[in-house]
Amino acid sequence: MNRVYIKTYGCQMNERDSEQVASSLRDRGYSIVDNEHDADVVLLNTCSVRDQAEQKAIGKAGYLKKRKVENPNFLLGVMGCMAQNRGSELIDRLPDLDLVVGTQKFHRVPDHLDNLIQSMNGQGPRPSSIVDLAEEAGSQNTIRDHIGKQGQVSAYVSIMQGCNMNCAFCIVPKTRGRERARPIEEIVDEVTGLAESGVKEVTLLGQIVTSYGRRDFPVVGGKSPFVQLLEKINDIRGIERIRFTSPHPRGFKQDLVEAYRDLPKLCEYVHLPLQAGCNKTLRAMNRPYTKERYLEIVESLRKVVPHMYFSTDIIVGFPGETEEDFDESAKFFEEIGYDMAYVFKYSIRTGTPAEVMPDQIPTEEKERRNQVLLDILHKSSLKRNESLLGTTQQVLVEGPAKKGDKFTGKTRGFRTAIFDADERLIGQLVDLKVDRATVSSLYGDIELAGVER
Ligand code: 5AD
Repeated sequence: MNRVYIKTYGCQMNERDSEQVASSLRDRGYSIVDNEHDADVVLLNTCSVRDQAEQKAIGKAGYLKKRKVENPNFLLGVMGCMAQNRGSELIDRLPDLDLVVGTQKFHRVPDHLDNLIQSMNGQGPRPSSIVDLAEEAGSQNTIRDHIGKQGQVSAYVSIMQGCNMNCAFCIVPKTRGRERARPIEEIVDEVTGLAESGVKEVTLLGQIVTSYGRRDFPVVGGKSPFVQLLEKINDIRGIERIRFTSPHPRGFKQDLVEAYRDLPKLCEYVHLPLQAGCNKTLRAMNRPYTKERYLEIVESLRKVVPHMYFSTDIIVGFPGETEEDFDESAKFFEEIGYDMAYVFKYSIRTGTPAEVMPDQIPTEEKERRNQVLLDILHKSSLKRNESLLGTTQQVLVEGPAKKGDKFTGKTRGFRTAIFDADERLIGQLVDLKVDRATVSSLYGDIELAGVER
């Protein structure tokens, strides 16, 4: 009765939230299984950023409800962004759901499951279903305990929740609420604990990390609270690499640029959402910067680290985006020369300003634009990987590769490397001499100097 399977859709924040729910359930005596067929309880942690993500989860829930026919005690829950976005309407659509938990209530999941199970055992009134979607002050501080997975090399750390921006396309302010930061000391404690359990790399997560603590903590010595946090994490012994996602161009100031010069553990890979490379579209999206300002940030980062790696999010087919607007965007996208990008076809989100904008773009045209950007990305990403041929790259060994008997890890620039190694090298930084490059991976041999094998 206590085997739980959690399926996660969407972003890294969702993955981190799922880890937290798993950790709190284990503490309560539940076991987390990695196969839905072995589970008595299935929880779907959902994404609302695009309609497709919601439809996938709804489809999955529809499929899973059949399990209740074979096993009346089977429990099915939906958590996270879609729960928050659609609320109790979800229960109307999927009456078999037992549990609907919003983004500020992940920590309540063990209590809710206990209640559902007790009532099923005749120890209480049977609630038809539990819906818990309220806001909760301080809920950003509840995403914190890691169960140090044996051999975990890299960990996500949630530093804030929510977003106060009003991008015309975006549902996130509704699903994640207003910006709330965790205190610096609590984050430092968590990362210290992770380092002690063997973690080498942390990725700091927030919907808009450049706004971290800006209303709660003072600027010190010209440095924003986010940069102060990066400095403190850079000082933690055992942590070798720091990454973060996502910053906003508006908050990407000189102090953050200089952090890349001053903090050796901060990896030279910046995920900086562009959304559009055309000022008219940026304005329509309510993104408060121009492409010229964006380029200025990119150039200032390249000044500090000439081989800086860049990644982005970009939307094609935003309402009113003409062919000329798109061509301008695509040209800018090419000019930056991204190493990695997530290209999104605009998806209408109910309740956002862009929902009611005229001149929605037909699906086939979005598809075409999507392909244009993917082709540009393919070229720039391959060019970068080919430029690394013959060089030596520092790689953090993560574990066995998916296929074959090779191992995999990432360079500081977040390129995937594939090489021969053995178990003892997991969690170590090694030097890799690159001798083959494809668009997605680097291949080569580990240079043995300094490495005990
Ligand atoms: N349609 C398509 N993509 C979207 N994103 C956010 N909202 C939408 C939408 N309505 C993309 C943005 C954001 C990423 C997480 O998802 O590019 O940065």
